[in-house]
Amino acid sequence: PYKKEFSQNLVEWFHREKRDLPWRRTSDPYKIWVSEVMLQQTRVDTVIPYYNRFIDKYPTIETLAYAPQEELLKMWEGLGYYSRARNLQSGVKEVVEKYDGTVPDNRHDISKLKGVGPYTAGAILSIAYNKPEHAVDGNVMRVLSRVLNITDDIALPKTRKIFEIAVEELIDENDPGSFNQGIMDLGAMICTPTSPKCLLCPVREFCTAYNEGDPASLPVKSKK
Ligand code: ADE
Repeated sequence: PYKKEFSQNLVEWFHREKRDLPWRRTSDPYKIWVSEVMLQQTRVDTVIPYYNRFIDKYPTIETLAYAPQEELLKMWEGLGYYSRARNLQSGVKEVVEKYDGTVPDNRHDISKLKGVGPYTAGAILSIAYNKPEHAVDGNVMRVLSRVLNITDDIALPKTRKIFEIAVEELIDENDPGSFNQGIMDLGAMICTPTSPKCLLCPVREFCTAYNEGDPASLPVKSKK
């Protein structure tokens, strides 16, 4: 069946080819959370040293919750978008105060935390807790628009929902963290915005755009 082979190929490829990144050596939801917030607007190569310094300084959720804001912002210097750091600390404080330091393991509760949107929620739940939850960002929309020939305009907010439903139908229930990160890595390494490397792609046999000829023409994105 299509779904099973697609997911299997993707997850196997991820285990073979995945980038060795510091936040992939942990399943601590707090550390995954930090990495995902840093990765939201900043490239992987830039994030790595910041992430390592940050986790050295704040190795537990409590250490970040009680850190002086000035010191925290100093640690963030160079990453930009300082509201991310302030929201992260607010969210972390909520977890310490309301959940005794344990990051919630369900979408309902985790989504209420400051700074945790649908993408970050799904990333933490799938990577740290092995929950079959979607984590749709721009990379994921690019990959799936090509695989499934989804031509909705990704610049429109309502389009995200379409991709979330698509992920729910494809996601590997046994290893959702590797499935989600596999799509992320595929988008970063193979299924790139221009000149995708389709001949190296583990799911090209399932890819509508590849089979019909013009993957680089997707996704559809109107200028705003
Ligand atoms: N970009 C955002 N989250 C990521 C992750 N967990 N791995 C690789 N790239 C990412």
